Amino acid sequence: MTFKGLSVLLATCFFLLGCGRAPGRPGPGPQVLRPEQELNFATLYKANCAGCHGAQGNHGAAIALSNPVYLAIAGEGVLKEVTSRGVHGSLMPAFAKSSGGTLTDQQIEVLAHGMVQAWGKPNLLAAQNPPTYKALLSGDVERGHQQFVASCASCHGANGAGTQKSGGEKIGSILDPSYLALISDQALRSFILVGLPDQGMPDWRSDSATPMTDQQVTDVVAWMVSQRGPAAGQPYPNHP
Ligand code: HEC
Ligand code: HEC
Repeated sequence: MTFKGLSVLLATCFFLLGCGRAPGRPGPGPQVLRPEQELNFATLYKANCAGCHGAQGNHGAAIALSNPVYLAIAGEGVLKEVTSRGVHGSLMPAFAKSSGGTLTDQQIEVLAHGMVQAWGKPNLLAAQNPPTYKALLSGDVERGHQQFVASCASCHGANGAGTQKSGGEKIGSILDPSYLALISDQALRSFILVGLPDQGMPDWRSDSATPMTDQQVTDVVAWMVSQRGPAAGQPYPNHP
């Protein structure tokens, strides 16, 4: 109900029933909202998203939504779309009532807008010309492997199997069958575009002087996807 609707209803109630509180009686307790009336960003985020994406939009199991580079590349439209419909075949649920979820379109607007307001940095990437959020080019598997060796192997090993740094820090395999089975192509692209700032993985600009081009990002995703195996989710024999 709108605020105006509510005031009209309350006024009618006072007029017809005299249901204002009598002098000396305790006032009404804290207002209780029905779940679909909740329109506070922080409350909605905490209740629905923090468990997977982290309390402050980072340090969670799923991608950091508070990474301003992510917000600049994805934009509010993508946030709304993914939150509404989820990602089929992954752990990301669909939240819109129209997709079987629990949130109204208005609540999803509040979430998408709230993330950009709370965590985004306007014009952060102006003049940087980042690759597009969604892949528009087609990728080449062979070039993708070469690019992986050039841009990723220092941390992930030449075949993505992981590395053990001398300091003892271990990076696990990113070609593990169960990992690749549950993650979408877009999520792989997103990680390459925006990095994992919490864990020291650079974004597409990389640590070197030359940022990765859109084609290079697309090729690396193509190579990773080619490693998924024919029956995603099933252990495949040629992979350790
Ligand atoms: C049960 C865990 C879980 C919950 C709860 C969850 N997410 Fe996700 N989310 C994921 C996973 C896993 C992915 C990556 C899916 C994939 O493979 O593409 C994801 C992806 C996303 C993406 C797209 C990331 C990209 O690559 O562009 C957005 C946006 C997002 N979630 C927003 C939200 C919001 C907003 C909420 C709360 C309303 C939420 N998520 C709740 C697990 C979750
Ligand atoms: C400077 C080191 C570094 C470089 C370079 C790097 N990464 Fe990472 N990457 C990391 C770390 C650290 C993690 C966290 C993984 C872990 O803790 O096992 C990670 C995680 C990932 C993940 C898993 C994300 C998740 O949470 O699901 C993917 C996918 C990934 N990297 C892909 C790439 C690709 C592709 C490249 C090259 C374009 C690349 N990385 C370059 C350090 C790096």
